[in-house]
Amino acid sequence: TEPLRLGIAGLGTVGVGVVRILRRNAEMIAARAGRPVEIVAVSARERARDRGVALTGYDWEDDAVALARRDDIDVYVELMGGSDGPAKASVEAALDSGKDVVTANKALLAIHGLDLAGRAEAAGRTIRFEAAVAGGIPVMKALTEGLAGNEITRIMGVMNGTCNYILTRMESAGLPYEAVFEEANALGYLEADPTLDVGGIDAAHKLTLLAAVGFGARVPFEAVQIEGIERVSIEDIEAAARMGYRVKLLGVAQMTGRGLEARMSPCLVPANSPLGELDGATNMVVLEGDAVGQIVLQGAGAGEGPTASAVLSDIVDLARGLRVPTYGAPTKSLGELRTAAAASP
Ligand code: NDP
Ligand code: HSE
Repeated sequence: TEPLRLGIAGLGTVGVGVVRILRRNAEMIAARAGRPVEIVAVSARERARDRGVALTGYDWEDDAVALARRDDIDVYVELMGGSDGPAKASVEAALDSGKDVVTANKALLAIHGLDLAGRAEAAGRTIRFEAAVAGGIPVMKALTEGLAGNEITRIMGVMNGTCNYILTRMESAGLPYEAVFEEANALGYLEADPTLDVGGIDAAHKLTLLAAVGFGARVPFEAVQIEGIERVSIEDIEAAARMGYRVKLLGVAQMTGRGLEARMSPCLVPANSPLGELDGATNMVVLEGDAVGQIVLQGAGAGEGPTASAVLSDIVDLARGLRVPTYGAPTKSLGELRTAAAASP
């Protein structure tokens, strides 16, 4: 059988994780995928850097766009990050030259996702992004496959591992913000620009993707109300604890009388509730459908292993020949959703 051939751009926390899993579990993955999965070529900024993993046997490309265009790859795996620049240019190049794309890049997709999905459709290709939302939790699969028969009524949850790590470590270890921030950095949780994490923007990117897919709507990122955790103090956390609450950066997207509402902000949740008991870099996503009711998904939201695990699930699906568009064309615009909701009694 023909192998599925990968080109991977980005060999940081997530990229190295993908290489490690593919080396460690190659036989099992081949058995599950029905064919071997092979890395053909890789790219990062610094060729000479020791990444703690052997890269022998893979071609090196200095330029991610050149990697994406190579004729000897089937799937371009974008793990560099950034909402524009090389990430966007290389994903476009991959789609235009007939490759499927797997990415963990929520910043790129929250802003350009629908354009890229249109480009993928025009090229008869697909763009998959399980790792972009809630790290290791297979939430995109749950939403697009498990709940395919439902009208989605609400999506909520804790979607940024860094913020949850900072909030819970400040409380449980009594450590100052700076020390906890450094711990999160060492564990590979932070975005390249950490203001995206603590500013609530990264979590809002994820909520945008979930809402766009879940509600089948064009959700402009600017329409999401965002407040981060920068102004949450240790005094706030302690005061909440005395009242039996914990502070969580919580996202909610739901239909209201005013239409589809999406917001990401610090909220008080009861300490003895599933959300209140969420520690460390864990994420929790609650999906609500008209037939299923509520389902709750919980797991590691950031870090090498969990995120690479989600990337592998997309790769294995592509190896199996599953080409279901996870980010289909929107059936409604946000404006239409607003108007429809305002008109309903
Ligand atoms: P890192 O910063 O650890 O790694 C980024 C990698 O991209 C590095 O290898 C870097 O090269 C490479 N790179 C950056 N710019 C270029 C460029 N212009 N050309 C070629 N290579 C480039 O990031 P992460 O692995 O943490 O994140 C990668 C993606 O995954 C991001 O989109 C992030 O949002 C997403 N993600 C991350 C999670 C996490 O827990 N870390 C979880 C979920 C998603 P070099 O090493 O040489 O500097
Ligand atoms: N910086 C992100 C987080 C990585 O902390 O959740 C996972 O998307």
